[in-house]
Amino acid sequence: MAVSKFNAATSVVDWAKSDAYHNSFLIPNDEVLDFVVKNSVDQGLPDIAVSPAQGKFLNLVAQSIGAKRILEVGTLGGYSSIWMGRALSEDGVLVTLELNEHHAKVARENFTKAGLDDKCKVVIGPAYESMTSLQPRIPFDLVFIDADKRTYPKYFAEAKRLVKKGGIIIVDNVVRYGQVNDLSVGDIDTIGIRELLAYIKEDKEIEATTIATVGERAFDGFLYAIRK
Ligand code: SAH
Ligand code: DHB
Ligand code: MG
Repeated sequence: MAVSKFNAATSVVDWAKSDAYHNSFLIPNDEVLDFVVKNSVDQGLPDIAVSPAQGKFLNLVAQSIGAKRILEVGTLGGYSSIWMGRALSEDGVLVTLELNEHHAKVARENFTKAGLDDKCKVVIGPAYESMTSLQPRIPFDLVFIDADKRTYPKYFAEAKRLVKKGGIIIVDNVVRYGQVNDLSVGDIDTIGIRELLAYIKEDKEIEATTIATVGERAFDGFLYAIRK
């Protein structure tokens, strides 16, 4: 586990406590999300959803832009989908792409519990194939990329095709405990993030920044991009 350069004593425990403190003011207790987390754990899904604070951030972004059409790459149990789905107006829709049938099944249960059945649709299959087969009449307002990191450059290129001009693409896990900037780390997923950064550097139609975060999800970050 990487530690803060500014305070070597700072650990994920403190970061989680800090999140809990802030959340106690900003994020009300939520029976539905508690169910979603428990149902996902009980059914053996890995504990890798976004944190509550990050979920709320995604919700606020979606609200800010009045998102009516959201695309998500990587559903898991639908925790982040529900945060974003709650920002949709009556006629809004969220399409979320998931390879694992069991994850998709749990996500659908969770959408039912959240009352979002009619707005949140899971598409099962390899996300890249699902994306390339999408030919939406109206482009998406927001895309959230959070599946296998090795495929991020391809997901991002497709997200760019599918999002409207002025639309937003957010990418999870672009810092990876500082492994992305540590060139001695050479696993295929870390390389995927570096390739995404290199791609964006050359792409004049994308303006982006990374916001690194510490919190209960440790040292990681969101890449936030606007498609020009
Ligand atoms: N966005 C979720 C977490 C997603 S975890 C949340 O915050 O709640 C990543 C998910 O991507 C897992 O469910 C995994 O099964 C899925 N995944 C991995 N590779 C994939 C692929 N090639 N196509 C689609 N989904 C994939
Ligand atoms: C992993 C994947 C994620 O999307 C995440 O946010 C954290 C961890 C993983 O595959 O380990
Ligand atoms: Mg993630």
